Amino acid sequence: MRPQEIIAKKRDGEILSQMELNFFVQGVCDESWADYQISAMLMAMFTRGLNHDEQTFLTQNMLHSGEVLDFSDIEMPKADKHSTGGVGDKTSLIIAPLAAACGLAVPMISGRGLGHTGGTLDKLESISGYNVNLTTAEFTRVIKTCGFAMCGQTPEIAPADKKIYALRDATATVPYIPLIVASIMSKKMAEGLDALVLDVKTGNGAFMENLKKSIKLAEAMVETGKSCDVATQAVISDMSQPLGKFVGNSLEVFECLNILRGEIDPQTTETLELSIELTARMLVLTKLADTLETATKRCYEKISNGEALEKFRHNINLQGGNPIICDSPEILLETVLKIPVNSLLTGFICEIDTKTVGNAICEIGGGRTKIDDVIDFAVGYECIKKIGDEIREGETLGILYCRNKSQSQLILGKLKNAYQISEEKPTNIKLVQKIIS
Ligand code: URA
Repeated sequence: MRPQEIIAKKRDGEILSQMELNFFVQGVCDESWADYQISAMLMAMFTRGLNHDEQTFLTQNMLHSGEVLDFSDIEMPKADKHSTGGVGDKTSLIIAPLAAACGLAVPMISGRGLGHTGGTLDKLESISGYNVNLTTAEFTRVIKTCGFAMCGQTPEIAPADKKIYALRDATATVPYIPLIVASIMSKKMAEGLDALVLDVKTGNGAFMENLKKSIKLAEAMVETGKSCDVATQAVISDMSQPLGKFVGNSLEVFECLNILRGEIDPQTTETLELSIELTARMLVLTKLADTLETATKRCYEKISNGEALEKFRHNINLQGGNPIICDSPEILLETVLKIPVNSLLTGFICEIDTKTVGNAICEIGGGRTKIDDVIDFAVGYECIKKIGDEIREGETLGILYCRNKSQSQLILGKLKNAYQISEEKPTNIKLVQKIIS
């Protein structure tokens, strides 16, 4: 069998067998498939589609491209959360230490920026020295020492996703349910979990822009999790505007550290609320809490008594970063130009084109265009006004953090035009829209 034979089959809309999908995943891992052949295959899958069996075989093959971790010697229940990706979507940085402070072990395998969305690994690398490239032995040691570790796919864990994820990012083949299911679930099922909470984003900043598609994605992932005997639940949450206050790598870590320090302002409240909702569900699924109310209360306590922050400090230390940022988060912020984005109209903000905001920040270096692009951690956007807020012409909607005038000339207009202003106040958007169990 040669790669081009399988690519041609999918190009022509045929169904691939388990063996053929295995040949593809093997080829990704042993490099017998060139990047251009993998990319062509991904595009063929994207345009021609994968049926339910193909989605299952692809997920299983990607999962078994590496090890399935065994943490049976860790007494604590093992749980994780994973998001389908959004703009300003930074809850992992709060959830991992918070869940660990509540008594869970969290083996978090994350991804880099994908499409217009940010990635946990890139955010973590904005912490000087923080190492996300852990071996399995190091990953295990960090979890045993501080309750959680955060790393990327490795040659041992979900190696197929590492390659496929990066190529999907560069070839516009991200927003397709079977590829998202295989990517997320191959990583998560390799973590040896008891429970998994999925944060499935919905809205114009998500890969699934409407609720119907988000529910379909959530159901497919919950079904996969349960078929692997992992207690799995999905929370469908709003992504019709950036989450919380900041978009951009260092800025998002800064926001999370402030929240863990108990310094919360109106713009960061929804980041805290969603982080608590997702962590509380991890506690209930693993039976560390009887009810969502008890779990929620415990989570708030662990933030206010500083235990979650102490967990993060310990983890940063173990993964090579400088824990001083826990005391002075502003150390993370480089001096850059801060350009106000002013409203063109008076009225109420009724819509924000969230994908445009995410793409604009990627365009000035906050994300990648090519696989090996270097990220500029300092650039980003501060959301001052959100949907439902009243605004006057000339008043500031948000602040662009950029390196130079040419960057601001490139994207300032796009950011301004991303806001729709109406005379009527829009109805409130629910942060959590549906639970799929
Ligand atoms: N997160 C992942 O890990 N993979 C996807 O495909 C989307 C979000």
